[in-house]
Amino acid sequence: MLSTRMPSSAVENLASGRVFNFNAGPSVLPEEVLRQFQQDIWNFRGTGLGIMEHSHRAAPFQKVLEDAIADVRKIGNIPASYHVLFMTGGSSSQNFIVPANLLSEGQTADYIVTGYWGQRSFDDATQHAASYGGRVHLAASSKDTNHSYIPNAAQTRYSGPAPAYVHTTSNNTIYGTQWRTPSGHERLPELPAGTPVVCDACSDIFSRPIDVTKYGLIYASAQKNLGITGATVVIVSDELVQRASTKIPRMLQLRTYVKEQSMPNTPPAFTIYTVGVMAKWILDQGGVHTLLDRNVRKAGLVYDAIDKASAFYTPHARLEDRSVMNIVFRCNAGEAMDVKFTAEAAQQGLAGLTGHRAAGGMRASLYNAMPEAGAKALAGFIADFAQRNG
Ligand SMILES: Cc1ncc(COP(=O)(O)O)c(C=O)c1O
Repeated sequence: MLSTRMPSSAVENLASGRVFNFNAGPSVLPEEVLRQFQQDIWNFRGTGLGIMEHSHRAAPFQKVLEDAIADVRKIGNIPASYHVLFMTGGSSSQNFIVPANLLSEGQTADYIVTGYWGQRSFDDATQHAASYGGRVHLAASSKDTNHSYIPNAAQTRYSGPAPAYVHTTSNNTIYGTQWRTPSGHERLPELPAGTPVVCDACSDIFSRPIDVTKYGLIYASAQKNLGITGATVVIVSDELVQRASTKIPRMLQLRTYVKEQSMPNTPPAFTIYTVGVMAKWILDQGGVHTLLDRNVRKAGLVYDAIDKASAFYTPHARLEDRSVMNIVFRCNAGEAMDVKFTAEAAQQGLAGLTGHRAAGGMRASLYNAMPEAGAKALAGFIADFAQRNG
């Protein structure tokens, strides 16, 4: 039953048979993109075969792969000295792929842990470091406050002047914090000079401009801002590829994916295709500068609604570190009210708002594909729910 208080944008959305999807990933995809998938699954560019039925070695898929890489390069302004690779195993597999390639005998890799996924990266690297003859060092952690902030330079202690790399997570999906400037632009930790940064950008890649040349390696599985689950986009400098280990299994070596153009075996072809369609959509929107403006506006609407009802809700993240992608908050009245919130929201066409068990409360993911109407509808519901229950 639809509430009479339901925001009009949510009513229009429900009328089309869809709800607003605030899930953290897999997550919302743009309507135009979904309609393109529908068409191409049935008959891809007049070939009489759907995209999922084509051989990965045949010309139609080769073109998909080339175009996807070219468009990702355009979006990220990625220079020729960097490779764009498609790998498998999700962002989680980069937890062992990165140290296996980049941590060699006698070296130390530093980790800045700002959330659940950063902790997983640190733990996985620690478990295997000894087998490469390397070590892993915890340079900073925000665990003391259940990851509500991004550590500053004074809270960060590197292992020495030349770590093998520093690993960081640009956006903390579960706790809703992000490395960012006040205007939402990218921000990196202060680093020992010349140290390559390895960045898990799984939940904010291409939601804003990035200067790729400041990084050694960036990885992101596709299921949030870039398409569907199944492939991980890895952007890596040629310098790091040249330096990477040759002693590990061939399918783990970064250079294999460079040499074999991301196809050392049958690749996750459909996911790569979806990344290509999403990349074109991002370009059609005006690129990452336009998306940043839109994403900041969307997050602003929701944070404003939470702040205006501060007697009723508490956001998890410290003000200056609030994520533009994932908004984490809870009801001051306790868990039962959180449950009521998400249940009523779902009834009103606002789906996927339950927080991760590690942070509790609610989480609204506002990736690139979430329309402004969705953020507006959620902001309206936040205000209305507080008024009715406060
Ligand atoms: C920041 C971040 N890193 C890593 C992961 C793990 O990604 P995957 O499930 O693709 O391994 C996630 C998943 O949500 C994430 O948000």
